[in-house]
Amino acid sequence: MPPPPTIAGVEIETVGVAGAGQMGAGISEVCATRGLRVAVVEVSAELAEAGRRRIEQSMARAVERGKLSEAERDAALGRITVGTDLEAFRGADMVIEAIPENLALKREMFTRIDAIAPDRAILATNTSALPVIEIARVTDRPEQVVGTHFFNPPPVMRLLELVRTVATADGVVDTARGFGERLGKRVIVAQDRGGFIVNLLLVPFLTSAIRLYEAGFASREDIDDGMRLGCNHPMGPLQLIDYIGLDTHLAVCDALYEEYALPEYAAPPLLKRMVAAGWLGRKSGRGFYDYRDKPPAKAG
Ligand code: CAA
Repeated sequence: MPPPPTIAGVEIETVGVAGAGQMGAGISEVCATRGLRVAVVEVSAELAEAGRRRIEQSMARAVERGKLSEAERDAALGRITVGTDLEAFRGADMVIEAIPENLALKREMFTRIDAIAPDRAILATNTSALPVIEIARVTDRPEQVVGTHFFNPPPVMRLLELVRTVATADGVVDTARGFGERLGKRVIVAQDRGGFIVNLLLVPFLTSAIRLYEAGFASREDIDDGMRLGCNHPMGPLQLIDYIGLDTHLAVCDALYEEYALPEYAAPPLLKRMVAAGWLGRKSGRGFYDYRDKPPAKAG
């Protein structure tokens, strides 16, 4: 394992994570299993508890699958605190924000994190599509702000997209890259442009699948099997949108459309209506498939 990354001679040993949803919990799990101390903060005791359960369940799966020993799991869980007070970030060497894709919310969170985190700390956002500089500019340390775009599920997906803004210092990029490599990720560096690298390619593909389905060209199963069995994708595009969350996909489409004004990024009406109905995919029990009382539809 590479040595711990440093910022001005300080090792990144303690990471703060704002948000314990799918991404925040997964990022916390990855950091803790790689030996970092993690302080996770949620907005309410209920969400903090749900986040803790999410981490425990995912680690239990890792133990079942032989990816983690019971002793490693216990040690990793012992390195994680989950709470509701941002004061937990006071000792952090790096803070990663993983809250919903809303610029105003993220800016407010960064203002608060900037006031609490030590001066040396790198601040990172897990945004999928928002301009990182628009978040960084509310802090007094824009040169120490990066995007760390993890992929869902973070413990399994091997990529970390590292986003540098026009203001990010070279040394901070190097340190953040070292951090990602310590987590066992392949780190790719993207400029701060909507969609970075992966979503710029993935979003039009997923959105095209919604358009096919909306136009009645094919059934959802046939669209998904087409890509699963014809191109060896682990999930079909509609299954993947259910997995990512329809609300997240809509937010990413909107951000990309705002950035480029190209039709391939425009959110299809069906996606908007499903989100309005509260059909957010797996997390709400219903999306393109119904998860309420049966396992997700898997073809094949
Ligand atoms: N820690 C470590 N490893 C774990 C783990 C954990 N907590 N949980 C599961 N794993 C491992 C399993 O052991 C298994 O490994 P092997 O294949 O070596 O046995 C592997 O991960 C797969 O796990 P499962 O068998 O439980 O699950 P699965 O085979 O049904 O796959 C999936 C589930 C990984 C989600 C797979 O369907 C997949 O890769 N789907 C596509 C996911 C994807 O594209 N994600 C990116 C979304 S886009 C995004 O995130 C960006 C954005 O901005 C929106």
